[in-house]
Amino acid sequence: MAAQNNAPLPDGLEIAGYRIVKKIASGGFSIVYLAYDSDGVAVAIKEYLPSSLALRREGELVPSVAKAHLPVFRIGLKCFFEEGRALARISHPNVVSVLNFFRAHDTVYMVMAYESGHSLQEHIQRQRARGSKVGEAFIRTIFTQVVKGLREVHANKLLHLDLKPANIYLRTDGTPMLLDFGAARQTVNTDMPTLTPMYTPGFAPPELYAKTGLGPWTDIYSIGAAMFACMVGSPPQPADQRKAEDKMASHFDKLQGQYSPALLQLVRWCLAVEPLERPQSLFAVQKVLQASAPPALPAPPPPGMLDKLRGLVGRLGGSAARAKAGPDTLV
Ligand SMILES: Nc1ncnc2c1ncn2[C@@H]1O[C@H](COP(=O)(O)OP(=O)(O)OP(=O)(O)O)[C@@H](O)[C@H]1O
Ligand SMILES: [Mg+2]
Repeated sequence: MAAQNNAPLPDGLEIAGYRIVKKIASGGFSIVYLAYDSDGVAVAIKEYLPSSLALRREGELVPSVAKAHLPVFRIGLKCFFEEGRALARISHPNVVSVLNFFRAHDTVYMVMAYESGHSLQEHIQRQRARGSKVGEAFIRTIFTQVVKGLREVHANKLLHLDLKPANIYLRTDGTPMLLDFGAARQTVNTDMPTLTPMYTPGFAPPELYAKTGLGPWTDIYSIGAAMFACMVGSPPQPADQRKAEDKMASHFDKLQGQYSPALLQLVRWCLAVEPLERPQSLFAVQKVLQASAPPALPAPPPPGMLDKLRGLVGRLGGSAARAKAGPDTLV
């Protein structure tokens, strides 16, 4: 997605009962503003404005959309609206709070509670600039809450699909919240405006490239990738490259001794290329994150039992793959 090159709304503009203070961020798909509502409460307003489809010059309010781009622009707008509406039903401390929606300027606006803070991505960069690394206790605390927020999202039949440190926002009190829900972004491809899911290389599992077989396990891969990015300061090897030649094992080798075996094992598990080899539920991930000591290994089976089990697995055939997903495969 190209960077946003459209003019932002002017500071001080009154729109649907809100007063724009200033632009605070922009991406290829939208512009985010700080604004005040009629009671003077700060809100963040996200404006749907895909830069590859819509053009707004300085001094204009309504973006122009070329006729050829209109169908895709409208589908994107509908997705943005639908996604936000679904998100508005979710009330969870670790998920951004959507307060309102309105239409104006031939586009749509999502109003969120404004939170002061910074993204996890910025936190990682700051730590590295200081020469220190993101520690295990921080990773466990933050991701336990991220996973709780994501469980609520999944419980509402939504997937995030673009989880990465830039979309995890740390409030000034240190609590994280999930931002920027992806399905709404399954819209515009920069060069050839068509409907394609967007993904961020390194954080996206193979099924996002293939655009099929998406599920909670898709977000679980990205959770693993985001934890990995905390540990090394950069995303994992992109999934398409891993399919050709997987170099992740050597990265994990380098991390030995810096983080507990249990946490490294969890990140590895989440980052399995094969969806069925990942944790199949966020509850399983949360359990490991919250365990203070590495979980005890199961007792070895009594003599003779292993052969019986092998015979059974052979008869079950395909379902053996699911059994490989790990000991905590809770759904
Ligand atoms: N509710 C909020 N409170 C405070 N700041 C916010 C809020 N929502 C978004 N922001 C700011 O805007 C930035 C970008 O937000 P977000 O990730 O939702 O959009 P984006 O990445 O620009 O979207 P896209 O790439 O889809 O255009 C965040 O990193 C944060 O700085
Ligand atoms: Mg974002």
